[in-house]
Amino acid sequence: MNTATFHTAKAEIYKNGFLDIDLDPQLDLFAEIERLKKEKNAILLAHYYQEPDIQDVADYIGDSLGLAQQAEKTTADMIVFAGVHFMAETAKILNPAKKVVIPDLKAGCSLSDSCPPPLFKKFKEQHPDHVVVSYINCSAGIKALSDVICTSSNAKIIVESFPKEQPIIFAPDKNLGAYINKVTGRNMLLWNGACMVHEIFSLERITKLKVRHPNAKLIAHPECEDPILRMADFIGSTTGLLKFTQSDTTQEYIVATETGILHQMMKYSPDKTFIPAPPDNSCACNDCPHMKRNTLEKLYLCMEYELPEITMDEELRLAAKKPMDRMLEISKRAGL
Ligand code: 13P
Ligand code: SF4
Repeated sequence: MNTATFHTAKAEIYKNGFLDIDLDPQLDLFAEIERLKKEKNAILLAHYYQEPDIQDVADYIGDSLGLAQQAEKTTADMIVFAGVHFMAETAKILNPAKKVVIPDLKAGCSLSDSCPPPLFKKFKEQHPDHVVVSYINCSAGIKALSDVICTSSNAKIIVESFPKEQPIIFAPDKNLGAYINKVTGRNMLLWNGACMVHEIFSLERITKLKVRHPNAKLIAHPECEDPILRMADFIGSTTGLLKFTQSDTTQEYIVATETGILHQMMKYSPDKTFIPAPPDNSCACNDCPHMKRNTLEKLYLCMEYELPEITMDEELRLAAKKPMDRMLEISKRAGL
């Protein structure tokens, strides 16, 4: 590729979110990505919601907690984050000296977007006696306003690390917050945010599906709304759901989370049946449009050209790191 083409593509990253460069269709992207990993001493971290091809080429596939822990301990020079922006940003918060790249800078998150830092700051100021527990699905700006971060796999432990009488603000996911209130008997003040993917499941259609599959277990992510969670046989983070399907003896599952996780479920349990929980219309809304912005082509390009790169103001990074470190420390003590 000539230099002018590259510079145009580079300049357009902020418009497109990614390096928009035509690739030779003959290129073996799997082999190229493996080559780049070695050449650049790069680690490829992928969330379970990434498309199967990306999961298959990743060094580590995990939930938000697992990914943050991997990002914290890696000795690689470059972290390639196949996930959404807040995840790559979290890796940068933990690793200022490493280059962190993401296939598409515009891979955002509706939940993170539902909590803008200036509004949340005002909300927090109205409740000065409260501590702030924030779900990791938030921007560095929200992390910096938080006392501790949690993920869907450690939220209960993190909340219970505070005395019962301690008033708590939980942000940004009202569904996860309500679920944690229920299982801990707390009354946390909830920010009114939600994930567009986990709010789309139809109780009516799941009920009908259960009638047709009477032996199927409903397994759900805690970002789902309360009526779905009440009906669920098991509730857990993506890793929690995957582990459950591996150890449980049931043969059929209705899976109420983003469809990407089905790839690993089918890999680990090829003899079992996994049915994606139906959304409330005929769209593919339980595919996260943000996660699915990443493609194998964009992944290859971001590794080859080390762009787009996550950068961050150092003062913000340090403020956001404190509650992240606290979460990692509590999780470690709990054996997570
Ligand atoms: P976990 O990775 O904690 O299961 O959360 C799922 C999610 O929505 C990530 O965006
Ligand atoms: Fe955000 Fe929901 Fe997509 Fe996860 S699945 S990245 S919470 S929009």
